[in-house]
Amino acid sequence: MADLSLHEAIFSARAIRHLKSDPIPRAELEYLVEAATMAPSAGNMQIWSFVVVTDRAQMRRMADAHREVGRKYIRDGVLADPKLDAERRRIYTGAMHNVEHLDAAGAIIVACLTMPCPDDAGVASGLFGSIYPAVQNMILAARSRGLGTVLITLATDHSPIEAEQATPIREILDLPDGVEAVALIPVGLPERRFLRPRRNPWQGALHWDRWSKRS
Ligand SMILES: Cc1cc2nc3c(=O)[nH]c(=O)nc-3n(C[C@H](O)[C@H](O)[C@H](O)COP(=O)(O)O)c2cc1C
Repeated sequence: MADLSLHEAIFSARAIRHLKSDPIPRAELEYLVEAATMAPSAGNMQIWSFVVVTDRAQMRRMADAHREVGRKYIRDGVLADPKLDAERRRIYTGAMHNVEHLDAAGAIIVACLTMPCPDDAGVASGLFGSIYPAVQNMILAARSRGLGTVLITLATDHSPIEAEQATPIREILDLPDGVEAVALIPVGLPERRFLRPRRNPWQGALHWDRWSKRS
């Protein structure tokens, strides 16, 4: 069982994009999915599924699809803008590592959402709010096991450029109608250290009783 404190996991689970390809024991991957399913969801509907991809050929296909989108959107788009600020340039340059090497991980877990009835489809807060707590549980559970992760939405079903992909992830994974890929989560032993994430001072995010009151 995990022996890292929750505090330590929360304060060191930064995005790790350089991961080792060493296989991850099946029981560890199952633990990550079990931890994810402990999350809350609207009405406890649990409209989540997780496709755990360890087959190297499948991982390569996913990497190819993701690379095509990432080169177009990040390398030739976002990073080609000379006005991009230094912090954004750092992040997107890091993201290019995923773009080129998505399959260089122990596994890729794809978080999927089963869309409820079409009438509910517009309630984004209920839909995405019902899967991201599970994804964060997974990220923290992975951290507690010494496994690095990064949350990727590029090339998923809700990415704005998904339609431009030659081989969408959903096709590679055989997702049925009504099930959508929401996040790709490569998992692996980290090639970088776990560190406290760089964040704005938390005090700037805090208001008391009303917006205008800061202290
Ligand atoms: C909704 C969402 C989408 C993201 N999509 C991507 C992505 O497509 N590619 C990527 O490399 N990182 C992606 N990230 C990771 C963010 O870039 C990362 O969480 C942020 O830069 C903070 O990183 P840090 O925790 O290492 O400081 C995404 C994160 C979130 C929450």
